[in-house]
Amino acid sequence: MPQRVLTGIKPTGTPHVGNLLGAIRPALRLADQGLEAMYFIADYHALTTVNDAKELRQLTLEVAATWLACGLDPERTIFYRQSDIPEIFELTWIFDCFTSKGWMNKAHAYKAIVAAAEEKGEQDADAGINMGIYSYPVLMAADIIAFDIDLVPVGKDQKQHVEIARDIAQRINHVYGGNVVRVPQPKIDEDTATVPGIDGRKMSKSYGNQIPIFASPKALKKAVNQIVTDSSPPETPKDPDASTIFQIFKALATPEESHQLAERYRSGIGWGDAKKALIDRIEQEVGEARAKYDALMADPAKIDDLLAKGAAKARVTARATMDRVRKAIGITR
Ligand code: ADP
Ligand code: TRP
Repeated sequence: MPQRVLTGIKPTGTPHVGNLLGAIRPALRLADQGLEAMYFIADYHALTTVNDAKELRQLTLEVAATWLACGLDPERTIFYRQSDIPEIFELTWIFDCFTSKGWMNKAHAYKAIVAAAEEKGEQDADAGINMGIYSYPVLMAADIIAFDIDLVPVGKDQKQHVEIARDIAQRINHVYGGNVVRVPQPKIDEDTATVPGIDGRKMSKSYGNQIPIFASPKALKKAVNQIVTDSSPPETPKDPDASTIFQIFKALATPEESHQLAERYRSGIGWGDAKKALIDRIEQEVGEARAKYDALMADPAKIDDLLAKGAAKARVTARATMDRVRKAIGITR
């Protein structure tokens, strides 16, 4: 049996180059390696923070169009929207009953919000925390376990959440005996670079330092031109590894291309030329896909249709898992 892999992206922002290189591209490569792959849009996870209906709809379409434009093949993989699979939410409740509150207290996404509030001098430890944020890993466990998944490719920040899914699956199997559900494993790609944003920190929508994948050529140029550089003149030799422009280039380009640009840095390069090299490389990477993205965004009904077809395929497995779990716990007629 080929291994089954699954990963999801929350529609909480317009996809950026960090998402492409850190999540989308590595996940799509797994399907090329002959694994059975499922990709989905975690729209109900986004509801923990996105509370504007139009925005949630728009971002969901953007994330879907991004996956498809970047090469996801809906015939060869299963591509769907989390909210189209009701079994996930039924499982979530069942899993809630097997999840220790202490595990949630330690969960990363929740702790990060508490830490940020503390830093701002907030006295109430529960300020700004809804139950969706608090029990987020339980929904994530249901996303995974519903489909008998073996491997979950995620960034380092999500490793702990997948481990919680593992704990939940093991607890169910322990309590009811045998293999009621499949126990998943995180798959962390250590080589995937953390792509820096235009201010040099990790590219993230939380920092507002991102380069959108499918920005228009004009907007792309504007974003790259905002990358902060020093005032050294063009002829001064420069250290590529100390340059954000080079770091982003390297994450995208082949080793050979990176080597060539590094040589230009060492023999002296104007910042304008370095930025142009980056703009051209991003353009080369996404130019063709952008046309596909724009065409998809102009036809939301087509995206909806593809996602609905994917959900119908995905539900077959989710229903089978649900039947097994219901039977195991004694919810049967
Ligand atoms: P953001 O930090 O913008 O909120 P998300 O947390 O929604 O991004 O990330 C979605 C996926 O993209 C995750 O798998 C995450 O590991 C990956 N990712 C996000 N930012 C980067 C980055 N700067 N470099 C590499 N991967 C990233
Ligand atoms: N929590 C993930 C993130 O923030 C998104 C996600 C939701 C996910 N459910 C998942 C990822 C299941 C992998 C598997 O990036």
